[in-house]
Amino acid sequence: MFQPVKGPAQHNQKPEQTLKPQGQARVLAIANQKGGVGKTTTAVNLATALAACRKRVLIIDLDPQGNASTGLGLVAGQRARSIYQVLIEGAALSEAITATPVPMMKIVPSGVDLSAAEIELISLSGREQRLKQSLATVLADFDYILIDCPPALGLLTLNALVASDAVVVPLQTEFYALEGLSHLLRTIERVKRAMNPNLEIQGIVLTMFDRRNNLSELVAADVRAHMGDVVYKTVIPRNVRVSEAPSHGKPVLLYDMRCAGSQAYIHLASEVLQRERGRIRSQNLAT
Ligand SMILES: Nc1ncnc2c1ncn2[C@@H]1O[C@H](COP(=O)(O)OP(=O)(O)OP(=O)(O)O)[C@@H](O)[C@H]1O
Ligand SMILES: [Mg+2]
Repeated sequence: MFQPVKGPAQHNQKPEQTLKPQGQARVLAIANQKGGVGKTTTAVNLATALAACRKRVLIIDLDPQGNASTGLGLVAGQRARSIYQVLIEGAALSEAITATPVPMMKIVPSGVDLSAAEIELISLSGREQRLKQSLATVLADFDYILIDCPPALGLLTLNALVASDAVVVPLQTEFYALEGLSHLLRTIERVKRAMNPNLEIQGIVLTMFDRRNNLSELVAADVRAHMGDVVYKTVIPRNVRVSEAPSHGKPVLLYDMRCAGSQAYIHLASEVLQRERGRIRSQNLAT
């Protein structure tokens, strides 16, 4: 794991929590260093469901695999600008924003060159803050910005955690579900202490839940027993329509709105929005 480097603000002083002005996008990182747990599927379909609730949404594809970009029908090589040029070459984020098949949803695509960024970032100034600084220029244009993280806790994911207000953690409902979670939670805590005091966990979402399999029920109960209310009530079922949709360049909500997977992501979006409303209420009470 990449260790956050101490910045100038960290000499004996804790960075302070600040309230984000209203009218600025909430930034959610979709993160888990485990591969294939449903990060991209959740980023694309939660974003689509939020857009269906008339929220202006931007997806940042921060994974060199570029699955969110291809899953939304963007052909590699036809992408005007990518997040690589923004992070490494200093291109304006606004110039990399690209339309998707969903009217209220846009994306900043990734590309294979992003795999080099993990190394190239090391020697750049403000290497953990570069995404945050770029996002600051478009916060007023969106309600939600969702960052699809790569399956690693390197500098790219660190940039996402520093730039985010909260993290959504997809957890595959399988035997080893909790393995690696404590490592992720420690990393989030460390970033919160050292670089981003506002960082919260929005929630943990159980993915690929198989109702025909007793193990799924046992694992879900175990995760809820360990993690409590931070786990969303909504579980995302294993559903073949969800896995087919990316090959058609569409979110599952456009591919088959009625399938169980689409319905689950609509429920997840309403839970996410409910938690957001709860947060604003408690913020207003505190001020
Ligand atoms: N609810 C689901 N039902 C069926 N298949 C699913 C579901 N969610 C995800 N998948 C499939 O599982 C695979 C992994 O999902 P996804 O790409 O979202 O995971 P990831 O965490 O982003 O992976 P990576 O770590 O490689 O970025 C994909 O083939 C996807 O289509
Ligand atoms: Mg992915």
